[in-house]
Amino acid sequence: MRKAAVTGHPIKHSRSPLIHGFWLKTYGIEGEYGRVDLPPENALSFLQNLKENGLVGVNVTIPNKETALEAAEILDDAARQIGAVNTLWLDDEGRLNGSNTDALGFLGNLDQRAPGWDERKGKAVVLGAGGAARAILWALQHRGYQEILLLNRTLEKAEGLQSHFGEPVRCELWESRSKALEGCDLLVNTTALGMAGQRPLEIELNLLPSTAVVTDIVYTPLMTDLLVAAKARGNRVVDGLGMLLHQAVPGFEKWFGKRPEVTEELREVILKDMGLL
Ligand code: ATR
Repeated sequence: MRKAAVTGHPIKHSRSPLIHGFWLKTYGIEGEYGRVDLPPENALSFLQNLKENGLVGVNVTIPNKETALEAAEILDDAARQIGAVNTLWLDDEGRLNGSNTDALGFLGNLDQRAPGWDERKGKAVVLGAGGAARAILWALQHRGYQEILLLNRTLEKAEGLQSHFGEPVRCELWESRSKALEGCDLLVNTTALGMAGQRPLEIELNLLPSTAVVTDIVYTPLMTDLLVAAKARGNRVVDGLGMLLHQAVPGFEKWFGKRPEVTEELREVILKDMGLL
């Protein structure tokens, strides 16, 4: 039986087993998806010896995504550019492949829930410059956005990403975030602001065109204040839960040989688990 797992430290709150378990059941695949608590000091050797550990592949989460990059023998462009690996699999020759599927998760979510969102690939505004922002910058750059404005509280971090990704990424001061929305086609919040228990994201949406799509990687609450405000003024909005679901698709396909679908039913399973349904 093919076995995969999510690895991280801590790991007990991961919803990946629920997602992959749902797909295994839906498609009647005899496989297993578990969880492995993997402290950073053991991560490299564990990941380099997946086969010996009885696994065909794994998801990797905090704090081992950079170690997974080091462990992989073959990396795809997304993993290399984003600088982190969240999905590993052994190929037919037994080589360890690494990918970062967060970018595809981000794109898959928008493609599904806001069809046509990228018809106008003019200007995107990305708030935040952490790990999630790296994946989203890669995604937008590869979709062909003409202008990507990156704003972060700590300017140096945004500047680092600007020099890493190059054109068309450009930074502006965090303080100018409301003004930056002028002429914007897509607004993405990648910061933790707006998450339950965190501070709110303070931003004025007056200048945002009504045609712009707004999305948040935060999904607790599902409708963040940003999404509520954007929806109220007529913008299309996409919540962050879909990114979590869609980033799981490529891994499942590699491990179990079937490309799974992100359905309303799957969303409901996760929302129930989160106590939101
Ligand atoms: P992730 O991997 O989810 O992106 P992260 O790497 O910790 O998480 O990044 C968190 C992001 O939220 C950063 O861009 C951070 O800004 P700084 O680089 O200045 O730390 C942003 N963030 C967190 N708290 C913030 C706050 N109170 N105001 C503005 N930005 C904040």
